[in-house]
Parts: sequence; structure tokens; C-alpha cells
Amino acid sequence: MKIYMQPETMLNMTSMDDLTGIEAFCWQIIFEAASNRKIAMHQPVIATAVEGRAHMRTVVLRRADIDRKAVYFHTEYRSLKLQDIIENSQLSWLFYDQNISTQIRLSGPTVIHHKDELATEHWEKTGHHSRRSYLQSLPPSTIIDKPATGLDNQLATFEYTIEETEKGFDHFTVIETQTNWMEWFFVHHEGNRRARFTYENGQLKTAEWLIP
Ligand SMILES: Cc1cc2nc3c(=O)[nH]c(=O)nc-3n(C[C@H](O)[C@H](O)[C@H](O)COP(=O)(O)O)c2cc1C
Repeated sequence: MKIYMQPETMLNMTSMDDLTGIEAFCWQIIFEAASNRKIAMHQPVIATAVEGRAHMRTVVLRRADIDRKAVYFHTEYRSLKLQDIIENSQLSWLFYDQNISTQIRLSGPTVIHHKDELATEHWEKTGHHSRRSYLQSLPPSTIIDKPATGLDNQLATFEYTIEETEKGFDHFTVIETQTNWMEWFFVHHEGNRRARFTYENGQLKTAEWLIP
């Protein structure tokens, strides 16, 4: 059984004067948040930008690869955000945890995993319940004439077998952002702190303190 480290514990172990320690703290907390739904950063906001307009939405952080500085979420292949990502592969992520007064922003180019090895690996770990999102006949954002969940009866009442969910794989997509920029902001009554990090191929390239 994995013992999760709480964000508060991680923060207490981090020196606020140690730039590389702060960077490691950011990745450790994102890593923990990927597998612990009780950590606020499990539900970050992602933003796409197309034609001069930013579009933001909440997602569930599904994975974080500290070595590659990559973060992942799941989505529907037919969703509007996927069209945005095809148009502009740069994706921004916003993580915030009020309990530890910490905001982390990161961004980088994005890889769309659809029907590939990584998508298969993630799909095999998804459960009966969550596969429902990928089985809807109408694509997300379709205009409908009355309020509805978009789920067919059989989906709404979970009357489908795990075998029947397999066709949802056609719509299942894993989105990976390869971080090349990250900013940490810490709110404190004695004065805030801020730092910026950049990466190249998953390797830390620059680390700088910033005026908050
Ligand atoms: C708590 C929460 C978690 C969500 N998680 C996801 C997610 O992991 N993937 C996803 O595609 N949408 C997720 N959504 C829905 C998105 O925020 C968004 O409204 C929807 O995907 C439509 O976005 P789009 O039209 O830009 O594609 C979540 C919403 C909430 C409130």
C-alpha cells in the first residue's frame, strides 16, 4: 500500500530559500496529486489559446512523470479542447492548493495519445463507471433542445458490461504536456515568494527567483 505524503508535510520539509528544493517540492506535490484525489491539485485547470482567446477548464490530473516533467489528463477525442490542442499544441496548467498557499503554473507542447500504447495502458486502468464518458453517441458540446446528461438509458443506469465499454476506447484520449516552463508562487503574510523554472527535454535549464 502506498503511503501518501500530505502537501503540508512536503511544505514543512522544504526550505523557502532553496531554489532547487522548491523545484523538487513542486514536482513531488504534482506527483502525489496525480494519485490522491484528496489533494486539491488533483483537479487542475488547463487552458488552451486559439484565435486570441484563452479557454480554461477543470480536469483530473491522471499522471505525472517527474523524470520527463510531463503531466497527463484524459479527455474525449471529439471534445472542443482537443480541436484547440490540434490547432495550438501549447497547453497551460494551473494548480492551486489553499492549504499550503501554493500555486504552480506550467506549460509546454502537448502530445495527443489516441489509440496508441499509452492510451491503451491508461484505458486498461479505467473502470466501468468512468468509461461511460466515452460511450455517448453524441459528441460533447452538441446543442440539445432540452436539459439532459447526454447519456443513453443503458449508460445512465450502468446496465452495460465491461465488454460493452470497449468501444469507448475509440473516443478515449490521453493528453500529455511536456513542461518547458513552470512558475511557483507562495502566499505568505510576511511576504510572498515566487520562482521560475525552465526545462529542455525534461532537464532543468534555468531556475530563478522573481519579485512576487
Ligand atoms: C471536477 C471536474 C473535473 C473534470 N475533469 C475533466 C477531465 O478530466 N477531462 C475532461 O475532458 N473534462 C473534464 N471536466 C469537464 C471540463 O472542465 C469541461 O467543461 C469539458 O471537458 C468541456 O470542455 P471543452 O469544450 O473545452 O472540451 C471536468 C469538470 C469538472 C468540474
